[in-house]
Amino acid sequence: MKVPPAQPIMTDKMIEAAANALRTERLTLGDSVFKFEEAFAKMCGTKYAVALNSGTAALQLALQANGIKAGDKVLTSSMSFVATTNSYVAYGGIPGFADVLENEFTLDPAKIKGAIDSKTKAIIPVHLYGMPCHMDEINEVAKKHNLLVVEDSAQAHGAVYKGKKAGNLADIACFSFYPTKNMHVGGDGGMITTNNEEVAELCRRMRHCGRKKGSNYEHDVIGYTMRLNSCNAAVGIEQLKFLEEWNDKRRAAAKLYDQQLRGVLDLVLPPQPTKDIVPVFHLYTIRTKKRNALKAHLEKNGIGVGVHYEVPIHLQPIYKQMFGFKEGMLPITERLSKEVLTLPMFAEITHDQIKYVCETIKVFCE
Ligand SMILES: Cc1ncc(COP(=O)(O)O)c(C=O)c1O
Repeated sequence: MKVPPAQPIMTDKMIEAAANALRTERLTLGDSVFKFEEAFAKMCGTKYAVALNSGTAALQLALQANGIKAGDKVLTSSMSFVATTNSYVAYGGIPGFADVLENEFTLDPAKIKGAIDSKTKAIIPVHLYGMPCHMDEINEVAKKHNLLVVEDSAQAHGAVYKGKKAGNLADIACFSFYPTKNMHVGGDGGMITTNNEEVAELCRRMRHCGRKKGSNYEHDVIGYTMRLNSCNAAVGIEQLKFLEEWNDKRRAAAKLYDQQLRGVLDLVLPPQPTKDIVPVFHLYTIRTKKRNALKAHLEKNGIGVGVHYEVPIHLQPIYKQMFGFKEGMLPITERLSKEVLTLPMFAEITHDQIKYVCETIKVFCE
């Protein structure tokens, strides 16, 4: 049996929606883009959503539209995809890091305070693997120090924290629609969500080359070409209709993994959902001291696994070179990067596939 690490869904209806947008709409900023924004904002419970061509673009504009400039420091977790920090380092921002909670993989609110200095202007909590961060505590620290909070919700479409959806838990939030995410747009794409009308409007102008509202060739802010294509938005509208159902399926798959793997080897399983924190299992990531050997064994048996992430951001060669970060700075993050292993996870994974993965793990243990 072969089990892929992820399996993006693309139905005939989604392909037809894209084709229809290509036939009938403006190719960029067509009707589908605005319909997609409206539906996505509704899902998150925010007043506004702004569609972009990637999650990285969403993070960059969310920060810039809120006045984060070159030389400003933005705190986040190093246990994330490098795009989290690339989004502002690329324009001169300075990365700062606080360690994560060992069992949840997300920013430890107690560690944030010690990482704040006079240059710090914002915090990006990352809802890693689809697990919402402890937002009340993070927002409280931010409020005390007058910091902007930008949720990195790239892996958390539909996740819930204290009854509210990811995307509506801070000043502004960013999503990615990269094909393996819980929902996609048939290519690259991203979204900003916020309740701040002025910021949403500025993001709309910045994605469209900084055009003055209602003008074609008059520009009063520096902008970019970061629009989402209409055909991608049309796919996004169709995908969004299935998000809840697909998230339920991911949660059911996670439960089955939990049942089969509890007590096996030294495996530490992902945290359980609670009344307050309902994850969406973008990834199902376990921990073991025998990570590399188990990974090789699973791969040899046709199972697609991943390591998210093998090198924490602060130890990426370019970050060490640019900022002088050194090993030992973030002990929990660094240890987790040697222990985490992501098992196959996607909405349509079958019971038989999960059983095969778990049995293959048990054979490794024997
Ligand atoms: C946590 C996180 N942040 C940011 C991004 C960037 O998104 P994109 O690849 O759409 O630019 C991703 C996804 O790839 C991600 O997983």
